[in-house]
Amino acid sequence: MTIKAALLGFGTVGQGVYEILEEKQQDLQHLLGRPVEVVGILVNDMNKSRPVRTETLVTDRFEQILEQQPDVIFEATIGQEPGYSYIKQALNERIHVVTANKVMFAAHGEDILEVADFHDVGIGYEATTAAGTPIIGTLSHLLQINNITKVEAILNGTSNYILTAMQQDGKSFSEALQEAKDKGYAEADPANDIEGHDAFYKLMILSQLLHKKQPVWSDVPLKGISQISPEDLTEAAQKGERIRHVAALELINGELSAQVKPVALPASHGLHSIDGVDNAITVSGDLVGSVTLRGPGAGKRTTASAMVEDFVRILQSAPIYQLH
Ligand SMILES: NC(=O)c1ccc[n+]([C@@H]2O[C@H](COP(=O)([O-])OP(=O)(O)OC[C@H]3O[C@@H](n4cnc5c(N)ncnc54)[C@H](OP(=O)(O)O)[C@@H]3O)[C@@H](O)[C@H]2O)c1
Repeated sequence: MTIKAALLGFGTVGQGVYEILEEKQQDLQHLLGRPVEVVGILVNDMNKSRPVRTETLVTDRFEQILEQQPDVIFEATIGQEPGYSYIKQALNERIHVVTANKVMFAAHGEDILEVADFHDVGIGYEATTAAGTPIIGTLSHLLQINNITKVEAILNGTSNYILTAMQQDGKSFSEALQEAKDKGYAEADPANDIEGHDAFYKLMILSQLLHKKQPVWSDVPLKGISQISPEDLTEAAQKGERIRHVAALELINGELSAQVKPVALPASHGLHSIDGVDNAITVSGDLVGSVTLRGPGAGKRTTASAMVEDFVRILQSAPIYQLH
């Protein structure tokens, strides 16, 4: 019996998942006791050629994916819909789900977790926040008894890359942005990154996980890095500071306070030295103290890595009768 996997979306992340499932076939079989087979791939544009095995179903119809009776679905599409509807349908059919879609999960994560819990199926969302850097797993499994009241994080690799290139190499904002695009860090339309929305969604996912609630979205001060000038960075450097785009969340007397904006950080601050495309998250727990996780926050393999790790964890703990 094989474990049947289906992919929703076959862009950067979906292709990364496909490649890792192929590349790690033997390890997966060893860990899970059965081979993993990709039984279907959902795409938007059927005219694009796809580097997949000829026998693999590629379709633009979700019903055809469900007809394959997958055990797990990897969701890596764009935006709230249709991903949210597809995920709910899959969970209702008792299919495990792993998603990278932060825009969708920030808005609907609470509901999705409830539906997954109701049907006793697995849901993985490590890749939504800081890609391959395992902050979701760390908070979910390793820091459960700690009371975590404060989070400070660099959650957008593109913004951090641009700020680093401006500060260290004296580049202008537009030169640094172009460089980030050339290296594949920034999307063709980078507004989500440089205006702070991407970091905001990730912070809301962390808030839901840590506090089972989110601040009112419109109350959260949100500013990106597009207005930062080389002069701002020089002025900060003269004081021994670096400007970083920081997403912060704090629980004060039961009330959530959040903000997402550029901040000049002194050398003593834990996020001061985070350069390039890295993400970093500092959490303060009442027992463990201050812990910082740092790692790549975007990219094909690092994001797909988080998804396949989620898949392994879910399948290892799922009872065998749940396989279709
Ligand atoms: N890239 C990263 O580093 C990264 C990191 C963390 C999380 N994520 C998240 O992962 C998700 C995917 O990102 P990506 O970089 O892989 O995006 P991408 O390269 O633009 O790929 C998106 C994929 O979704 C498919 N798609 C879009 N709308 C669809 C629809 N209505 N029905 C079926 N398929 C549809 C596209 O189909 P076509 O191929 O036919 O156009 C494409 O294959 C996003 O939610 C993103 O926020 C990405």
